[in-house]
Amino acid sequence: MGGAFLFGVATSAYQIEGHTRADGRGLSIWDVFSARPGAVADGATGEPACDHYRRYREDIALLRWLGVGAYRFSVAWPRVLPEGRGKVNPKGLAFYERLVDALLEAGITPFLTLYHWDLPWALEAQGGWRNRETAYAFAEYARTVARALADRVPFFATLNEPWCSAFLGHLTGEHAPGMRSLEAALKAAHHLLLGHGLAVEALRAEGVKQVGIVLNFTPVEGEDEEVLDRADRYHNRFFLDPLLGLGYPESPFRSALEPPVQPGDLEIIAQPLDFLGVNYYTVARVAPGEGVYPVRYLPPEGEVTGLGWAVRPDGLHGLLKHLGTLVPWPLYVTENGAAYEEVWQGEEILEDPLRVAYLKAHLEAALRARVEGVDLQGYFVWSLLDNFEWAHGYRPRFGLFYVDYPTQKRIPKRSAFWYRSLLRQGAFPP
Ligand code: NOJ
Repeated sequence: MGGAFLFGVATSAYQIEGHTRADGRGLSIWDVFSARPGAVADGATGEPACDHYRRYREDIALLRWLGVGAYRFSVAWPRVLPEGRGKVNPKGLAFYERLVDALLEAGITPFLTLYHWDLPWALEAQGGWRNRETAYAFAEYARTVARALADRVPFFATLNEPWCSAFLGHLTGEHAPGMRSLEAALKAAHHLLLGHGLAVEALRAEGVKQVGIVLNFTPVEGEDEEVLDRADRYHNRFFLDPLLGLGYPESPFRSALEPPVQPGDLEIIAQPLDFLGVNYYTVARVAPGEGVYPVRYLPPEGEVTGLGWAVRPDGLHGLLKHLGTLVPWPLYVTENGAAYEEVWQGEEILEDPLRVAYLKAHLEAALRARVEGVDLQGYFVWSLLDNFEWAHGYRPRFGLFYVDYPTQKRIPKRSAFWYRSLLRQGAFPP
């Protein structure tokens, strides 16, 4: 079963750092997208977020207080390579060196994600992920970060949720860069995967010990077999199948368009990994629909979170059992959590019984899958802090700590105490 089970919390650069122009950082697609009127709720942007770029030591103190074994964070590509490739910005890289050193000093294992959606704008100007060249630029960026940090960071994930980058970014337009084109989405999807594969080679060459990728999974439910299969190919298999060496699944789209695969690409994509990161929040109910992706989403049944996502711990258990039979690598739940629109009224501890119940049920479900034989090696709560929830802005709050944005004060929620006491008990899984 490998090493000790890792308990952690997760964040990402754009969602918490702020200081988007500090120390030579280049613009990212999210800076530009969030500045577009109507793109993000309340006109919110990545400023000030959680001011983490200045407060990272304070935030590491919170990690210590929680007692987590690991911290999953992402590196902002435009801090390291403001133009996307070429000239390295030493000040940008130095921030992550300080962060990693401080984590190690605190006895916390750094779990690094290279790409959590903040593509350098300079690359977007040249076609972004629609351009095959971006895959090569990503490998160059991976090499640069690994050269600086591979000696101190045991876990490198290449991409976070490429499904979102490809489809929310290029098909539905909900995420940066905000396009609505199937052709663009398929190009982006393939170049993201190619970039992953090229980055795996670069990371291994630089001596990274554990290389993986983080995917989001949405188990689908419904009556219609054809629709279930289609929605499963879209949500769950589009990225996983090529990584497993199975090639792309039959297209979930009613279209003759295909990902622009060149000879040799599928081999580059399907390299063996050391782990698969699994992000899980909810399930989807699907029915026949119209259009190029003829699937309709039915309203969730039962309890939902503040984002209207069904609370379904059994979905996580089933997903892990299923992945356990398919994936030859250890699994980590790299994100799991619940958002609510909380209001702080000056209390010392903010009561969040629904989040405690959500996390407890999901962690139990995950550990049950492990007891039943799934090679699950870790679990990360999303998120340490309330933060910039992409197109939803700052209203949905996922944190174990509430962030009072005007003062940047961090206030523990009950869930932070719950997680802390769980980690203190040391009642670690078998
Ligand atoms: C997935 C993403 O990786 C993360 O950035 C986001 O905040 C959470 N899920 C919640 O939506």
